[in-house]
Parts: sequence; C-alpha cells; structure tokens
Amino acid sequence: MNKVLVIDDELGPRESIRFLLKGDYEVFCADSVDGGVAMLREQSPDLVIMDIRMPRKSGIEGLREIREVDKHVSVVMLTGYGALETAKEALRLGATDYLSKPFDTKEMTEAVGRYVERTRMERRRTGMLDELQDINARLVDDLASREQEASMAQSTAEIAHDMRNPLMIVSGYVELLTAQLEEVKAKLGDQLGATDDYLEVIGQNVRRCCDLSHMWQKYGRAKLSEFGPTTLADVIEDVVLGTAPLAASENVDINYDTQPGDAVINGNKPQLLRAIHNVIANAIQAVTPPEGRVQVSCRRDGDSIDVVISDNGSGMSPEVLSHIFDPYYTTKEEGKGTGLGMVITKRIIEEHHGELRVESEVDAGTHVTISLPLASSARSVATTN
Ligand SMILES: Nc1ncnc2c1ncn2[C@@H]1O[C@H](COP(=O)(O)OP(=O)(O)OP(=O)(O)O)[C@@H](O)[C@H]1O
Ligand SMILES: [Mg+2]
Repeated sequence: MNKVLVIDDELGPRESIRFLLKGDYEVFCADSVDGGVAMLREQSPDLVIMDIRMPRKSGIEGLREIREVDKHVSVVMLTGYGALETAKEALRLGATDYLSKPFDTKEMTEAVGRYVERTRMERRRTGMLDELQDINARLVDDLASREQEASMAQSTAEIAHDMRNPLMIVSGYVELLTAQLEEVKAKLGDQLGATDDYLEVIGQNVRRCCDLSHMWQKYGRAKLSEFGPTTLADVIEDVVLGTAPLAASENVDINYDTQPGDAVINGNKPQLLRAIHNVIANAIQAVTPPEGRVQVSCRRDGDSIDVVISDNGSGMSPEVLSHIFDPYYTTKEEGKGTGLGMVITKRIIEEHHGELRVESEVDAGTHVTISLPLASSARSVATTN
C-alpha cells in the first residue's frame, strides 16, 4: 500500500485527511516538522502533505529539511487564507503543489492519487538512471582494462620478438667460445680455472632467456578473450615442457600425471598456460635439490577438475600466505620476482569460473589447487561413466 505522511500541528485537518485516505493508503501523522522528518526517514512515504503555518518550525523550513532527506518525494503544502505568497515561495523551494485549507475532499483525493504516482515515477526514473550510470561506468572500466590488456599483450609479443635475435647471437657465440675453450684447455690445462663453468652458466641462462622469450611471444599474440573446449592434459604437458629449462637450471625434477587425460574444460589455452606456469615456476623456485620435488596431478571432483601442484619446498608462513595475491608482493631477492605471478594466475582462474586454493606449511611445502569447471558435455560423460 502506498504511504502518505501528514504533518500538521492541528489535530482537525490531520485526522480528517487520515479518515479520507485510510482505505486506500497507509497514513502516518506528525504534529511538527521534527516529528515529520523523523517519520520520513523511517517510512519513506510516497507523498507528504504539510501545513505551511506551524509554531516552532514552519512548513517552509520543513520543506528544506525534507529535501535534504528525500529529493524525489512529492510534497503538497496546505495554505490558509492570505498565504498565497508563502505558497508560491514553497513552490520555488521544491514543493510539488499547494492546496488551500479547508480542503475540498475531491480535490484532495485527486491530488493525492496524482502526486503519489508522480513520486513513484520519479523514483523509478532515478533508479533507472543510477543503474544506467553504473552500467556505463562498468563498461568504461571494462573497455579500459581490455585495451590495456590488448596493448600489453602486443608490447609483450614485440619485446619478446626483439629480444630473440640478439639472444640467438649471444647463444651462438657462447657455443663458439665453448668449442674454442676446449682447444685452449688442452694446451693450458689448469691455468683456465673455472672459466668453462662460468661459460656453462652463461649458456644455460641464455637458453633460458630464449625459452622465456619464445613463451612470451606465443602467449602475447594469443587472443585474450577466446574460450573454447580445452583439454587440460595438453595444457599441463605444455607447461611442464615450458618450465623444463627452468627446472633443469634449478636442478629440480617435475613429476606429472595427467590422468584423467580426456578432461575438457571451456577455456583459453594460452591464458591457462600462463596461470599454471606461474604456479609451477613458484614451486620450482621453492624447492632445494636434491630432495626437492614438484608434483603436478589432475583429479576429477564432481563437476570440476582439480589441478594440484605440490612441492616439498620452503613453504609459507601464514603472514606470507596472506599476501600472495597482493600485486608486487614478493619475498624473492631483487631481480628474481616481480610479485605478479599469483595475481595473474588468480585473475585467469576466476575468468574461467574456477577456484584457486593454497595450503602451505613452513619447511614442509605447498599445495596449490586449481579447480576448474568441466565443460558441460564432459560433465555428462563424467556422470554416465
Ligand atoms: N610454492 C611456493 N612455495 C613457497 N612460497 C611461495 C610459493 N608460491 C608463492 N610463494 C610466495 O608468494 C610470493 C608471491 O608469489 P608470486 O608468484 O605472485 O610472485 P613471485 O614468484 O615472487 O614473482 P614472479 O612470479 O612475478 O616472478 C612469492 O614471492 C613467495 O614468497
Ligand atoms: Mg612467481
């Protein structure tokens, strides 16, 4: 039922309006501006009928206070004889209309009907306007982040591309130097000291840069928003291959088990590669050889598939764990980590309507579970099997 608030210091008009409207409206009455404004806050009526002339605070003051609380509610002023000027002032201050006292019942019922409807329309209109503004703001944000992502992907691909050529040259010269060193070594023997070890480290790291730049070139070019049937085992195999140079340089073994191999999700492969790559890279960096182990496995769990990446490395304290999704949070030494890996992974998994869980214990290791919903066709296979 629509609500009408009557504010009048005189009992007579208050009660006659209540009597007139009570069958069709929920009527609230107050005998002062203060009482009326309190009721306005509490009840949010669809119409206020208010006397202009009241002791203490007048209707004009009341109108100002009402407009501070509610910009849209219709307010009809009741005016006595000779108060036309004040009534006009009330209109200037935002009253909707005025009726003279004593009021005509027909005129009053018609005005109430009309102005209750007006409030409702006004509220609906501003509600829709707010919603439109919200949608617009979200669209603008979305567009900005998409543009940013697209231009980042483009520049990443370009950087990766430009790095590749000089890296290839360095890598070629490292091989030449290694070959020459072998000859020199035969003549000079021990005098060379650890030079060949140094050269090997350089070679290893240049190869690592080549692999990374290849990975970035591949991922950067990928369209970011395309989703389609994606076999998770293929993704994991590619990531394990992609992280092999890193694992080799850190002297870490990765075990992986991609059962069930046929699990299909609705996803974007390049994005999933990035997401899982980041977690496996963290695991590799957390363990110490020779006992260091990284295990990657898949488990079907109802309508989703869990990819679990476990390591027996350093683990994390609750304090570190509480920060791993903060952008730029890293515990790695300068130049080793950007602190963006887990942030990117979390965003990608959420874009796939998945979940990311991390359990960790200091000196025991870490389990990261990436839970992704199976594609609907794969789901029915899962239930019939
Ligand atoms: N498997 C793990 N074991 C131990 N600590 C981890 C593990 N994974 C993440 N962390 C902790 O979380 C922090 C944030 O990880 P994140 O991958 O976001 O950044 P990063 O690895 O430091 O840098 P980046 O990935 O950008 O190279 C790490 O610095 C590390 O302290
Ligand atoms: Mg990382």
